[in-house]
Amino acid sequence: MADIAVIGAGYVGLTTGACLASLGHNVTIADIDEKKIQDLEAGKIPIFEPGLEELVSTAVSDNNLHFVVGARSASATAQFHFLCLPTPPKSDGTTDMQYFHAAIEEIREIIPPESIIVNKSTLPVGSASNIQNLLSRKDVEIVSNPEFLSEGNAVQDFLNPARIVVGAESDETATKVAALYSKIDTPIVLTDAASAELTKHTANAFLAMKLTFVNEIAALCELVGANITDVTKGIGLDPRIGSSYLQPGPGWGGSCFPKDSSSLVQTAKRVGFDFELLEKAIDRNQIHLERTAKKIMDELPDKNAHKDGKIAVLGLTFKAGTDDLRSSPSLAVIGYLLAEDVQVAGYDPMVFEAVEELEELDIASDSYQAALGADVLAILTEWEEFTDLDFGKIRDVMRQPVIVDARNLLRRRDMEDQGFRYIGIGQ
Ligand code: UGA
Repeated sequence: MADIAVIGAGYVGLTTGACLASLGHNVTIADIDEKKIQDLEAGKIPIFEPGLEELVSTAVSDNNLHFVVGARSASATAQFHFLCLPTPPKSDGTTDMQYFHAAIEEIREIIPPESIIVNKSTLPVGSASNIQNLLSRKDVEIVSNPEFLSEGNAVQDFLNPARIVVGAESDETATKVAALYSKIDTPIVLTDAASAELTKHTANAFLAMKLTFVNEIAALCELVGANITDVTKGIGLDPRIGSSYLQPGPGWGGSCFPKDSSSLVQTAKRVGFDFELLEKAIDRNQIHLERTAKKIMDELPDKNAHKDGKIAVLGLTFKAGTDDLRSSPSLAVIGYLLAEDVQVAGYDPMVFEAVEELEELDIASDSYQAALGADVLAILTEWEEFTDLDFGKIRDVMRQPVIVDARNLLRRRDMEDQGFRYIGIGQ
């Protein structure tokens, strides 16, 4: 079993650290945030991720998982240094590498000879080789081992992955990193660092494009009188297409798809390739978000007095199963609504405080409170609990019984039977 330092205790770092510890490795997770480390030591997990709290607690009691402030303390004796640091986008779509550069600067002189640095975060293609230059240690190799963790399912994705990708310059190093996962039964793709980095971007960009495509077909369905649910079922059964990532929605979002697809466009630009297809998919996603807002606005009774209109939004997080609001499609749609001066009340089972960037959004304590006096009830995140609401009660507290279901979560017939006008996506 290996001694592993995980630098960064965010979504990726905590999941990676706890899962590697559960595989039997001796893991130390480091972060610069002292408060976060204190909380983790006290058993408090700063994020909502199913199964993570139990995994951390078991690994801590087994003495396999430790928390420290600062990368140096974790890395001084480790054989592997997993970098799980933020990679925020800059305004031009390129990736801000400051956290990586700072961490490398901090550990470069103290890490043991022949140890291995593993990039888990999503970095632009070519980063491993740039960091290698910055490190200027010939005995330490930088490996790209991208994460494919979907929020809300991260622990499952780590322990039961579809594949593990390890990119390194030497086969020996790649094999050492792959061996850390020997208890996991899955295909391992051993490659060079640039190919591993590109694999990660390609996976996210491909899925994002698939979703844009589905949302375009959904828009077409509405115009030709077809039903997207049947169309996606019909194509998804073809194994060459596959049935996942075919669910239409208000537009895609989250902390990864928007950032990684823009970063891939920028990487292409840097090397003189015009990735028009991907650029268009990103632009069209924005159009779908606007289109969702327009669908909602169109249901307001008085088109000339938006100020008097009230919209109830169910779901604020970027998808169900997470508390993450970063690049949430729901918030983007609400932004368009607020810009039209309508009143918006939102409810989400994982959001309890005002949303910083949307001060005018009222946060309701439940779905019924959000719906009180509303002209339209818009479902923007697919939380399962919204299917169990008492829709008779919702209808009675609304000013007019209209539902815009941007996730096709509810059944049209049930809603119409309850007296609602029901508008889905692609129906
Ligand atoms: C995504 C990838 O799925 C992970 O494999 C990857 O590791 C991760 O990014 C990352 O790069 O770290 P995540 O951001 O958690 O994971 O989100 P997804 O579950 O993929 O959803 C992304 C967006 O697509 C959400 O807005 C979601 O609502 C939307 N979506 C997804 C749909 O609209 N329809 C679908 O059928 C699936």
